[in-house]
Amino acid sequence: MIRVAQDTVTITDNTTGRSVDCPVQRGTCGEPVIDVRALHRELGLFTYDPGFGVTASCRSAITYLDGDAGVLLYRGYPIEQLAERSNFLEVSYLLLYGELPTPAQMQAFEHSVKRHTMVHEHLNKFFAGYRYDAHPMSIMVGVMGSMASYYHESTNIFSPSDRDLTAHRVIAKMPNIAAKCHKYYLGQPFVYPDNTLGYVENFMNMIFSVPAEPYVSQAVAVRALDLLLILHADHEQNASTSTVRLCGSAETNPFACIAAGMATLWGRAHGGANEAVVHMLQNIGDVSNISSFVARAKDKGDSFRLMGFGHRVYKNYDPRAKIIRQACHDLLDSMEGIDQPLLETAMELERIALEDDYFIERKLYPNVDFYSGIILKALNIPVSMFTVIFALARSAGWISQWVEMIEDAEMRIGRPRQLYVGAAQRDYVAMDARR
Ligand code: SDX
Repeated sequence: MIRVAQDTVTITDNTTGRSVDCPVQRGTCGEPVIDVRALHRELGLFTYDPGFGVTASCRSAITYLDGDAGVLLYRGYPIEQLAERSNFLEVSYLLLYGELPTPAQMQAFEHSVKRHTMVHEHLNKFFAGYRYDAHPMSIMVGVMGSMASYYHESTNIFSPSDRDLTAHRVIAKMPNIAAKCHKYYLGQPFVYPDNTLGYVENFMNMIFSVPAEPYVSQAVAVRALDLLLILHADHEQNASTSTVRLCGSAETNPFACIAAGMATLWGRAHGGANEAVVHMLQNIGDVSNISSFVARAKDKGDSFRLMGFGHRVYKNYDPRAKIIRQACHDLLDSMEGIDQPLLETAMELERIALEDDYFIERKLYPNVDFYSGIILKALNIPVSMFTVIFALARSAGWISQWVEMIEDAEMRIGRPRQLYVGAAQRDYVAMDARR
C-alpha cells in the first residue's frame, strides 16, 4: 500500500506489515521527487524504470525543462531570451558558473578560452590513423578520449583550479578538433586558430579557410551558427549527459567522460538525428512522397521513424525547434542562391504530420534536430559534420554538468540494479551428459 502525504510517501508491504517513509523532495520548479533510497534497506524492494523516464538521477541547477509547456531554461534564463540576446561563449560561462558574466568576467573568460584554442602538435598525428572517409564522430570520440594524455591536469578531478582549467580547455579546443575532422576528410591542411577572431568566426575560419586564398565569414552565417550552438548547449539529463555523469561518477577524467558522451550523442535516436533528418528529407525528395513516408512511420511493422519528430520529454513543440524554424526562414531569405527544397519539404512534412491523429495522439512534434540540419546545410557544412556541431555545442553542457556532479556532496559511483529474469541457480552439466 502507498500513502502520499505532503512531504512523505509511506510504502507498506502488506505481506510483512513493514513500512518505510520516503521523503518527497521539491525543487525550485518541476515535478517533486520521491527519495526511494531507503526502499531496499527497509523493504528489500527496487524500483523499475527502463530508460529512466521517470527517474531523477541527480540534483541539478543548470537546465530546467517542462516538456508539456515547452519551456527550456539555462540557469533560469529562458532559451528564447538567450537565443535573441546572448552568444554561445557567454552561454558557456552561464552554464559553467551559474550567472551571467560581468564585463570583466566575460573578458577574463574570453581571454582564457583564447589562450587554449591550440592543441598539442602530436595530437595532429592521431588523424592519420583514420581512413580519410571515417565518420568524423568516430574521430572525435577517439581524439577526445586521448586528451588526458596531453593535458594531465584533467586527471586531478578534485582540484577546483584544475577542473576550471580543464573546462576552459574543453570549450576552447572543441572547435579546433572538430574543424580538423573536416579538413582531414577534405585532404586540406589543418588551419590554426586565429585568436583575433570571435569564437564562432574562429571555428568557421578553421573549417572553411585554405592557405591559398583569403577567407572572411559572413556575419549572417556566424550569427546562425552561434544561435545553433546556444540552442544545443545543454538539455538536462539527456542520454549523452547522463553518460558523462555515469562515467564521471567512477572518477574518470572529464575528457574521457566527454568522449563517452560523444559516443552516445552519435546515435540516430539522439544527436545523430540531425544528420538522419536531412537524409530522410532527401529520400522523400518531392513533397508528393511525404504521405508514403508518414504511413511508414505509423506502420509498426516498419522500423522507419520520422527523424526529427518526437521526444522523451517534450510532449509539446520543442522550443528550440520553433526558434530554429524561424532562423531557417531568416537565413535562407537572406542568402541568395540557396535552394530551399529541403525547407519546403520539411515544412510540408511538419504540416501533414501535425494534422495526423497518430502524431497528435502521441504528442509527436518536431524536435531540435528537425530544422537544424537545414541551416547547417545552408552554411555549407557537410551532413556528416552535423552531429560534430551538436557535440561542439553540447560539450559546454557536458563539462558544466560534470563539474556540478564532482562538486556535489551526494556524488557516488552510479550503479543501477535490475529485475533478474534469467535461469534460477542450476548445476554444471558435463559435455557427455548433455542432450
Ligand atoms: C535529441 O533527451 C533529450 O533531451 C535529447 C535532445 C537533447 O537536446 O539532448 O533533445 C536531443 O535527441 C532529440 C531527439 C532526436 N531523435 C529523433 O528525432 C529520432 C526520432 N525520434 C524517436 O526515435 C523518438 O521520438 C525518441 C527517441 C526521440 C523518443 O523516444 P521515446 O520517448 O522512447 O518514444 P516512444 O518510443 O515512447 O514513443 C511513443 C510512441 C511509440 O508508438 P506506440 O508504441 O505508442 O504506438 O510514439 C512513437 C513510438 O513508436 N514514436 C514515433 C516517433 N517517435 C516516437 N513514431 C514515428 N516517428 C517518430 N519519430
